[in-house]
Amino acid sequence: MPNTTSEAPMIEARDLRKRFGANEVLRGVSLQVRKGEVVAVIGPSGSGKSTFLRCLNHLETIDSGHIAIEGETLATTDAQGRCAYVPDAEVRRIGAKTGMVFQHFNLFPHLTVLENLIEAPMVVQGLARDAAVARAEALLAKVGLAPKRDSYPARLSGGQKQRVAIARALCMQPDIMLFDEPTSALDPELTGEVLRTMRELAEEHMTMLVVTHEMGFAREVAHTVAFMDQGELIAARPAAEFFADPGHERARAFLDHML
Ligand SMILES: Nc1ncnc2c1ncn2[C@@H]1O[C@H](COP(=O)(O)OP(=O)(O)O)[C@@H](O)[C@H]1O
Ligand SMILES: [Mg+2]
Repeated sequence: MPNTTSEAPMIEARDLRKRFGANEVLRGVSLQVRKGEVVAVIGPSGSGKSTFLRCLNHLETIDSGHIAIEGETLATTDAQGRCAYVPDAEVRRIGAKTGMVFQHFNLFPHLTVLENLIEAPMVVQGLARDAAVARAEALLAKVGLAPKRDSYPARLSGGQKQRVAIARALCMQPDIMLFDEPTSALDPELTGEVLRTMRELAEEHMTMLVVTHEMGFAREVAHTVAFMDQGELIAARPAAEFFADPGHERARAFLDHML
């Protein structure tokens, strides 16, 4: 690893722009995430939070701006405004540094829990089955679901499904975890177990970008709170500071509404 990248932010997003037809969904979003930092992204529905995360994980492409992961450029825009991604093999390699967890789990219903976990390490990373199983079993134990290894997703509670989804993302050994409203689809009594798993990851210094409406999690676990509204990221501040003073009228109005 060259020295030049060791000090680089884990995520650097500069002036990201993205439109769907006439709808400008990201209007110049910039954010840096440092190693081991937990950033909570909050903001009203439709403000572009999911699109922002999906652009970082290359599930969507940006129209312009600059994205670098651990100092390696994924996409950049020249002075003429032309946006270019690095070649596909580089995109895949850099993309593998981030893992993502979705609101609706996205587990494979026809595979057992264990099979859900070993699929990508075997197919994408070419890991031998034994090694993939060992890795999966360790992660299932970590999220407290070792006894469920041979269950199908339909037999699990929502909270268990989401913990399996987290273990599955971790099975690819990402350096950064992106969470898109991981507890929003859960009954209130099941959110705690998922938040606890995420808190444990944070305590192990995983770099995390978490879109959430859980203000308690944002306040207690996140180092930084980023507020998005109408396609803009208008405030990123240390969490304690943000909750004491969001620093922006729209952020204050949102917070008053949430708390
Ligand atoms: N694939 C898509 N095609 C067209 N419009 C989209 C697509 N994804 C998101 N949008 C629009 O982009 C805006 C921001 O959406 P989203 O990023 O999901 O916001 P949030 O996650 O903050 O609720 C919304 O107006 C939404 O309708
Ligand atoms: Mg969303």
